[in-house]
Amino acid sequence: MNKQALEAIAQAMVANGKGILAADESTGTIKKRFDTIDAESTEDSRRDYREMLFRTQDAMKEHISGVILFDETIRQKAADGTMLTQLITDAGSLPGIKVDGGAKDFANHAGEMITEGLDGLRERLAEYHGLGAKFAKWRAVINIAEGKPSAACLAANTHALARYAALCQEAEIVPIVEPEVIMDGSHSVERCYEVTTEALTQLYAQLAEQDVYLEGTILKPNMVVSGTQHAEQAGVQQVAEMTLDCFKKCVPEAVPGIVFLSGGQSDEDATAHLDAMNKIGGLPWKLSFSYGRALQAAPLKAWAGEASNVPNAQAAFAHRAKMNGLAAQGQWDASLEG
Ligand code: G3H
Repeated sequence: MNKQALEAIAQAMVANGKGILAADESTGTIKKRFDTIDAESTEDSRRDYREMLFRTQDAMKEHISGVILFDETIRQKAADGTMLTQLITDAGSLPGIKVDGGAKDFANHAGEMITEGLDGLRERLAEYHGLGAKFAKWRAVINIAEGKPSAACLAANTHALARYAALCQEAEIVPIVEPEVIMDGSHSVERCYEVTTEALTQLYAQLAEQDVYLEGTILKPNMVVSGTQHAEQAGVQQVAEMTLDCFKKCVPEAVPGIVFLSGGQSDEDATAHLDAMNKIGGLPWKLSFSYGRALQAAPLKAWAGEASNVPNAQAAFAHRAKMNGLAAQGQWDASLEG
């Protein structure tokens, strides 16, 4: 394992004021996103949309340290024949790749999921490394409901995350480890805190057991928030305080950075929560973003599948990237949203 190379990549991923663009929607998920704007999802339209994002210079150069790609995208060329990975690199950003095979029903545990994709992963990582990937992502899904998550769900998912992380490091690829406690549900913010604490505790026990080099990893977690159906919704300051309290107990200081997923939060909530945490400050790790929807919802809507809308869509992306870049430094303010 080349510890120095892994550390350098991980540090670059959480450079000051920068975060990750999660553009790794599977073909099924991006179709759902395109359906919302009445755009057809074809290989070309997916390419056009993503090329538009990666060519947004002010966003990419100033605020996006890395982009998580899907298998199709890491192999795709821009309309002028340039590899999309080259556009990312030219903007001073790092290409990354989603390597999990998706969350599938967990046997014997109705309503719970296990992420697949370990078979053949060593070979796939070697190929992705050759295609320019500097980091990877694996997402585990943890649902909260009556009696859930089960001990088996947490054990199986955190074990798989650690196996994936070890394989990544062997291939000189920084693993983003993502145990996502899902927001959907009628649970309280306290229950989310409890489950997130348990998931992170087990994750770091597994990573330690499998000798994963923490300085060469990045954590991508949920924030501690109220279930979407819960009657009382925790406010921005409470979310920030409970999330940090949870992480201080569970996340070792050796981890260089934590980049949050947005998980269905509104664009502004995702920004406000990140900003509030960084305003509290005094943290051992960098705190930034790895948003999918919270970075892309605005440009996707502005684009609406029309080439003539590209300038407006790029402006919308640049704006969200800037707001989140400020939040990553605790320098955002709602008045900047215009
Ligand atoms: O794995 C989750 C995605 O990379 C982040 O997407 O910010 O829309 O939750 P999200």
